[in-house]
Amino acid sequence: MSAVPVEHLDELQAYAEAVAGCARCRLAQGRTQVVFGSGNPHADLMFVGEAPGFHEDRQGVPFVGQAGRLLEKLLAGIGLSRQDVYIANTLKCRPPGNRDPAPDEIEACESHLFRQIELIEPTVVATLGNFATKLLSGRPLGITRVHGQEQQTTIGSRSVLLYPLYHPAAALYTPAMLKVLESDFARLPELLGRTLEPAAAPEPELALVPPRPPAEQLGLF
Ligand code: URA
Repeated sequence: MSAVPVEHLDELQAYAEAVAGCARCRLAQGRTQVVFGSGNPHADLMFVGEAPGFHEDRQGVPFVGQAGRLLEKLLAGIGLSRQDVYIANTLKCRPPGNRDPAPDEIEACESHLFRQIELIEPTVVATLGNFATKLLSGRPLGITRVHGQEQQTTIGSRSVLLYPLYHPAAALYTPAMLKVLESDFARLPELLGRTLEPAAAPEPELALVPPRPPAEQLGLF
């Protein structure tokens, strides 16, 4: 378990409450509620899916449908339950008819996800499917190309190991994809044990560099 400062838990709760009224995009009109995320706010392992579906929108919890049951089964296979991890989505509101997220919806919502990751401080972020993978990797490569390939990246001020996985909803109906998802999943315990390089410090802004003491003061010592 990572050492998450207590104030981060309060901040996560406060942030969830603030996001509950979000009206940054058109999805606010059709939703039953914002589906912020659920699970262990101290989690070392965080999953990021695509968007809430019908059941998630009704219950306010991500991955509660068939894909969620598969996710729980995969977690059980590595000795974890959904209470051990944190689960969220790229979009916090259900797109009508479960259509794909639109680029402007992802852009409107992304800072909610980034803040969530900063507050939870996971060491591994497993992206489920194309939308989460492209957003968090910052690269256009699709999940078929990159699944199972971990990469260290910086989110906010922290280093995390990004680990793209097939989306469980896709694997439900494609046995070959399910096999790949299972074998990629089996590497999670090893990845959770890795030590990451610290995030590179951001370049200091010129205005923040402390001024040098005036030359005459040096003579005082
Ligand atoms: N349920 C979710 O919460 N997210 C998905 O991406 C799919 C199903």
